[in-house]
Amino acid sequence: MEEIIKVENLYKEINGRIILKNVSFSIYRGEIFSIIGGSGSGKTSITKIIVGLWKPTKGKVLVFGKEIDKLSKVELDEIRKNIGYVFQEGALFDSYKVWENVVFYYLEHGGYSEKELRKLAVEKLKLVNLDESVLDLYPSDLSGGMKKRVAIARAIVTNPQLVIYDEPTSGLDPLTSRVIDKLILELRDKTGSTALVVTHDMISAFGISDRVMVLKQGEIIAIGKPEEVLENPHPYIQSFVGNLKPCLKVKSG
Ligand SMILES: Nc1ncnc2c1ncn2[C@@H]1O[C@H](COP(=O)(O)OP(=O)(O)OP(=O)(O)O)[C@@H](O)[C@H]1O
Ligand SMILES: [Mg+2]
Repeated sequence: MEEIIKVENLYKEINGRIILKNVSFSIYRGEIFSIIGGSGSGKTSITKIIVGLWKPTKGKVLVFGKEIDKLSKVELDEIRKNIGYVFQEGALFDSYKVWENVVFYYLEHGGYSEKELRKLAVEKLKLVNLDESVLDLYPSDLSGGMKKRVAIARAIVTNPQLVIYDEPTSGLDPLTSRVIDKLILELRDKTGSTALVVTHDMISAFGISDRVMVLKQGEIIAIGKPEEVLENPHPYIQSFVGNLKPCLKVKSG
């Protein structure tokens, strides 16, 4: 299986504090891989290192087979085009309309007419189950669930092979959270992309993931298929998941 991401013995130290300790894992093409763990356990930090925003203190991080912290700016830009990042909190641009948010990458890089970009926005919005009636709305006109969907449409605008979702269901009610879960699965199935999901939402993590990794204070305490991780759960995992088994399996197959 092709490794989209390979992390080996990763350490990250900030201001004399070690926030990631000896972290090693791989993510394979087409997987939905979730990182779970409490606040401050290092989940977002891992994603920042994967997209090249932060450098590892020690260890190796390969993204699409390339060592991310050794790339030139041009090579890094090329790799970033292949990674969609749905930020924690969504982070839409409030003064831009929905269509402008979705095609923001191309507005920044230029070369396309408004007509072409609006068409592209419609295409991507369709993938997240929104129609063209939202094109000229502003983020403040949208519900929380719609905002997340627009943020996802924006992340996939360049057809990235890897999509990173940082807390995609935070702030949403349980029903809307399950809609976003289904969407993550659907997008992986429709586009063949790989998903890295960072979440506090145990139903989401154990329901949609092919594999999950549990972090505690910067260290991996479990990694495997949801059923393997839940088989004999570490007390820390137990404290998170409670009795989850009846809720498992959003996915069909
Ligand atoms: N820019 C920074 N400067 C200093 N310390 C930081 C910085 N960013 C994160 N940290 C620290 O690194 C640790 C891990 O943070 P991180 O944001 O990765 O956690 P997280 O698991 O994503 O948490 P949350 O679930 O709250 O989003 C925390 O202790 C945090 O205080
Ligand atoms: Mg975080």
